[in-house]
Amino acid sequence: MNSSHLIRPDFEKFEKIPTKVFDSAKVASIYAAQEIANLIKQKEKEGENAVLGLATGSTPTQVYDELVRMHKEEGLSFQNVVTFNLDEYYPMEPDSIHSYVHFMNEYLFDHIDIKKENIHIPDGTLERKKVFEFCANYEEKIDSYGGLDIQILGIGRTGHVGFNEPGSSESSKTRLIALDSLTILDAASGFFGVENVPRRAITMGVGTIMKADRIFIMAWGEGKAGIVQQTIEGEITSQIPATFLQDHDNVEFLLDDASSAKLTRSKTPWLVGPIEWTDQMLKKAVVWLSKYLEKPILKLTDEDYSEHGMNDVLTDIGRAYNVNIRIFNEIQHTITGWPGGKPNSDDTYRPERREPAKKRVLIFSPHPDDDVISMGGTFIRLVDQGHEVHVAYQTSGNIAVFDDEAIRFADFVTDYHEQFGFENEDTSKLFEEVRASIKDKTPGEVDSDAVKTIKGLIRRGEAKAACRYVGIPDENMHFQDLPFYETGKVRKNPIGPEDIAITKKLIEEIQPHQIYAAGDLSDPHGTHRVCLDAIFAALRELKDEDWMKDCWTWLYRGAWQEWDIEDIEMAVPLSPEETDRKRRAIFKHQSQKDRPLFPGTDKREFWQRADDRTRNTAQTYDQLGLAEYEAMEAFVRWKELD
Ligand code: F6R
Repeated sequence: MNSSHLIRPDFEKFEKIPTKVFDSAKVASIYAAQEIANLIKQKEKEGENAVLGLATGSTPTQVYDELVRMHKEEGLSFQNVVTFNLDEYYPMEPDSIHSYVHFMNEYLFDHIDIKKENIHIPDGTLERKKVFEFCANYEEKIDSYGGLDIQILGIGRTGHVGFNEPGSSESSKTRLIALDSLTILDAASGFFGVENVPRRAITMGVGTIMKADRIFIMAWGEGKAGIVQQTIEGEITSQIPATFLQDHDNVEFLLDDASSAKLTRSKTPWLVGPIEWTDQMLKKAVVWLSKYLEKPILKLTDEDYSEHGMNDVLTDIGRAYNVNIRIFNEIQHTITGWPGGKPNSDDTYRPERREPAKKRVLIFSPHPDDDVISMGGTFIRLVDQGHEVHVAYQTSGNIAVFDDEAIRFADFVTDYHEQFGFENEDTSKLFEEVRASIKDKTPGEVDSDAVKTIKGLIRRGEAKAACRYVGIPDENMHFQDLPFYETGKVRKNPIGPEDIAITKKLIEEIQPHQIYAAGDLSDPHGTHRVCLDAIFAALRELKDEDWMKDCWTWLYRGAWQEWDIEDIEMAVPLSPEETDRKRRAIFKHQSQKDRPLFPGTDKREFWQRADDRTRNTAQTYDQLGLAEYEAMEAFVRWKELD
C-alpha cells in the first residue's frame, strides 16, 4: 500500500467517497479478499451465513484469485457463504462462454467448496414475460437471507454499477435494462464484434446495492481515471449512477495509482494540503501551472505561483524566475534528435550516452504493429543513424485478423499450387478446409489451427514489410509467438516460465545497449502488460551479466496513451517528412487498416491516433515555451536495475 492510501482529512474537501489508493490492483484485491474472508470466518463462528454480492468483469478477478488461494492454502471454507451476482446478460444461456454463470464458475465457484444451492445469478434464459416476477423474487430472496453483508462492485466507463446505466434512479430494483452503447462497445472485444453483444441485461438495482451493509467499489487502470474522478469528486447524479454511493455510510473505493490519477490529490496535490516538493512534484506543478494559465514556463510569475496553491514553492525552493529556468532546462534536456546518443558530443545533459557510437538496439513490440505505431519515427531515426536495430514481435496478433482475410490467403495458397501443378494434398485443400471451418464457427469460438496459423502469418508478413520499409535486414526481425498469447481467445493465459525463457534467450543473444519496450504499466490484464512483465522478468534474471551494465531500457507508451509531460525523459522530435515515413510504415499493416477487428471505442485508425498523439506532445512542448516541432515521440527510462 502506498502512503497515499490513508484517508486523510485533507482529501475530504474534494472526495465524497472514502478512497484508498494502492500500489497495484493486486494489492488492493488482496485487501478486499481479506475483508471478505474475515467476514466469512466471523459469521461462521456465530453460526450464520455470510451473504456476498458479487460482480463479474475484469475488475474483481484478482479478488477471486486470492479467495481461491485462501481456500486452497489456508483452508478458508465457503460452506456458510451465500452469493448473489449483480447481473447477467439477457438473453443468455448459462453454458455460453459469455455468460456470467460461466465466468463465475471459471474464476471462483469451481475452485471452492460453496454449496451449489447457495449460488444465485440472474437467469438469462427466461421468457420475457417471466422476467418481472423473477426480479421481484431475486429481491425477496436477498432479503430472506437478511440482506447483503458485503457487495463488491466494478465501475463501467458510463458510471454504471451492476448494469445500472445512466438514468437509473437511486431506488431502482432488480430489473431488465437496456445496455448503454459505450458498455456494448466495451464488451465488444470479448464477444468478437459489437454485433454479438446482447442489448439487454438483468441487473440488481441501485437501491438493491445501496441496502448492502458494506460496499467495496474497485477500479484499475488509466481508462477508468475519468469516471472515477467524477464519481468520487462530482455531484450526485443519475447520469453517473455510481455517484449514489456517496450516500452510503459504509463504502470504500479501492483504486490503483493509474485509476486515481485524475483525483485532485493525485493531479494537483498542492491544492489539497501541504506536500513535499520533490523534483518530480515540482516539475509536475510547474507544467500544470503553465498549461492551466496557458503561459510559457519562463513567463510564470511569483503571483501565478502564490495564487495557485504553490506559495510554499517560493519560500521553500526559490523565486519564480529561478524555478522557471530550472524546470525549463530540465524539459529542454529531454529533447534529442539522437535517440541512440549523439557521437562526439558532450552528453552531460543528453538523455542517451554517446558511447558506443553504434549501438545494438532491441525494440520489443507486443503486437506486430506497436513498434511502428508507437515509436515508428524513433525506429526510423535509429536505423538512419546507423545503429544495429532488431525488432522482437512478442505475440502473433492472430486474433485480430478478420475471417475473410484468412479465407483470401488460403485461397491464394490453393490457387498457387494449382497454377504451378504442385502435388500437395494439404495445401491444395487448404482453401476448402479454411472456408468450412470459418463457416461453422460461432462468434467467440476458437479458430482451427490452420486458420490461427494463417492469421498469424498475415500479421507476420505485414511486420516484415514494415521492417523492410524502415530498412532493417530480415535476420534482425524476431518472431517470438509467446505461448501465453496463443489461447485463440481474447482472454490470455498468465505469463509463464516459457515466455520469460524465450525473452531472456533473445536478449542474451543480442546483448543490446538499448531496449525499447511498450510500457503500459497500468493495464492490469492486457497483452501489453504481460509482454512487459516477460521483459522485466528476463532482465531481472540477467542483471548480473557484465554487458547488462551497458543496457538501458526505454519505455514507450502503447497504442492508446502518451506519458505525462513531467514524466518524459527522452522526447524525439519528428520532422513532417519523418512523420510521413512513419505513417507509411504503419500502412504496411493492412489487416489493421480502415477498420481493425478490435478498434475499442476510438473511431480513428491507428495511424491517425499515432499522428494525433505525437502532434499533441509537440504542441504541449511548444505551449510550455520550448521549440515548436511537427511531432514528438516520448520515452521514460526503466531504472529498477540501476
Ligand atoms: C459486472 C458488472 C459491471 C462491471 C463494470 C466494469 O458484473 O456489473 O458493472 O463491474 O462494467 O467492468 P470491468 O471490470 O470489466 O471493467
